[in-house]
Amino acid sequence: MATAVSFTASSIGKKYVMAVSGIALFGFTMAHMAGNLQVFLGRERFNGYAATLHAMPAVLWAFRGVMILAVVAHIVTSVQLALRNRAARPQGYAKKQSLATTYAARTMVVSGPILFFYIVYHLLHFTFNTLHPNYEVTDLYSNVVASFRQVPISVSYIVANACFGFHVFHGAYSLFQSLGVNHPRYNGALRSLAMAIAVLVTTGFIAVPVGVLAGLTK
Ligand code: HEM
Repeated sequence: MATAVSFTASSIGKKYVMAVSGIALFGFTMAHMAGNLQVFLGRERFNGYAATLHAMPAVLWAFRGVMILAVVAHIVTSVQLALRNRAARPQGYAKKQSLATTYAARTMVVSGPILFFYIVYHLLHFTFNTLHPNYEVTDLYSNVVASFRQVPISVSYIVANACFGFHVFHGAYSLFQSLGVNHPRYNGALRSLAMAIAVLVTTGFIAVPVGVLAGLTK
């Protein structure tokens, strides 16, 4: 126990916490994306999928519990690492660095908080239904289609999910480095892999608002 605590207190331990919680959250988003895309299979299929999820409240809440823990660990650890990095160089850099690492870190500092506010908005929109214009409890399909037919809502989702893509790209690349997969010979390939993963999730999520606006849903 003491060893686990001192490991998570170290910088390398914190990077592992970021990696493990990031992988758990990424797993959720892949499953979520696959679920969302069923909107293109029609009302019955999509509502059936939502009903199946809600028919198992114990499983749903166990899963939500793990996700909440992962989100809290991911955010708290990212703040601790940022504060630790800042404390390590109290003067700041004499000349601002434009290295890839600095750029990636800055991207995370911007995309992370945007994502946080997006998720709060998203939960109020589709889970707590307080921001939905005319919510139908048993018809998630209509809720999704009616929402994304409103251009400002679709645009806000498209922008937020593009931010999510940047976050996944830099997150995946730094995950490889944290796990020690870091060699000049493979770094180009790892960057391409991180980019491919980011493009996949961004396209999958953005497909829903874009598809609704394009009239692909009824
Ligand atoms: C355009 C993209 C997205 C669409 C259309 C979408 C759609 C939805 C819908 C319809 C629900 C309600 C599901 C239900 O009540 O059964 C939901 C819940 C949720 N979404 Fe999304 N989502 C998108 C992107 C994202 C992203 C990028 C994240 C996280 C990074 C996310 C996180 C969540 C969470 C945490 C929930 C609550 C799940 C639960 O009830 O336990 N969503 N989403």
